[in-house]
Amino acid sequence: MKKLNILAIETSCDDTSIAVIKNGQIYSNIILSSAELQNTYGGVVPELAARMHEKNAIPALKLALKGLAPHEIDLIAYTNDPGLRVCLNVGESLAYTLHLLLKKPLLPVNHLYAHIFSFHDDATKPIEYPFLGAVISGGHTSIYLVKSVSEIELLNATVDDAVGECYDKIARELKLGYPGGPLIDRMFELEKANLKFMHKMPTVDAPFSFSGLKTAVLNHINKCNMMKQPLDLVSITSSFQKTIIDIVLAKIKFYLNQYPVKGIAIGGGVSANHYLQARLKALSDVAVWMPATNALSADNAAMIGIYANLL
Ligand code: KG4
Ligand code: ZN
Repeated sequence: MKKLNILAIETSCDDTSIAVIKNGQIYSNIILSSAELQNTYGGVVPELAARMHEKNAIPALKLALKGLAPHEIDLIAYTNDPGLRVCLNVGESLAYTLHLLLKKPLLPVNHLYAHIFSFHDDATKPIEYPFLGAVISGGHTSIYLVKSVSEIELLNATVDDAVGECYDKIARELKLGYPGGPLIDRMFELEKANLKFMHKMPTVDAPFSFSGLKTAVLNHINKCNMMKQPLDLVSITSSFQKTIIDIVLAKIKFYLNQYPVKGIAIGGGVSANHYLQARLKALSDVAVWMPATNALSADNAAMIGIYANLL
């Protein structure tokens, strides 16, 4: 385990996050979210998010240092890809400025790989390879075979919407608020998941695709509205959640049968979903590793530092 103080910066979407990893443990993980502002537009507006990063970066940095002197930082890690370009630029500029000022090395980090390792919040514990890594977020839905910290093979990725994006769009149509995932998660009742949105489940070895399911749910909502029928919010959202988790789980099961792995790690905002977590634990005998808190599931800088510490 490396004895380093890592300053980590994450600005890929609407959360400005700065963290310090001190000797392999999370020392701070500050997240200043602009979700409330984005809520008024029903989704993330990149230019607006970038402006909020500019406003929040220095306050987040001060909070994250929490008594540490800047010269005590040994390494500056930052998200360089993937993400909204105008947002990534803010984090990259801050990282580069600190690198010049403090004369400390810079390490660009892949946001998706950081999500995969976000469960590993204690560097004293070993990681068992190979494992399956699933990133399920607002922008991505991908499954990887992780053979080592730097040998990460993509097995599947969505060809259209991401799982979290479907949650957000359906919640917006139902005027529930943004982000939709946690709201729908809280409303979920298995016995009310009685609507059939898919005639046939997708074949397990095909790439993920969720736009068909999303459109079916949106069409159902529009049809009810047009016919002036009351919307059963719990039934619609529970049926949607049950179906989308069924699809994700079927795919994970397929890869678990293909590869003899030691475990499955999940990350990304949707990995905080209670129904997904429960179903995953019941899926097989393989160990399930998930982020310890909702903050570590969603976009956050601690995961950037955690991954940087392993490289
Ligand atoms: O990882 P993240 O913070 O940002 C991206 O990189 O996209 O994920 C945000 C997504 C949003 O779509 C949000 O609705 C979803 O994660 N989400 C959830 C839950 N919490 C957040 N989806 C389902 N259940 C949840 N509990
Ligand atoms: Zn993310």
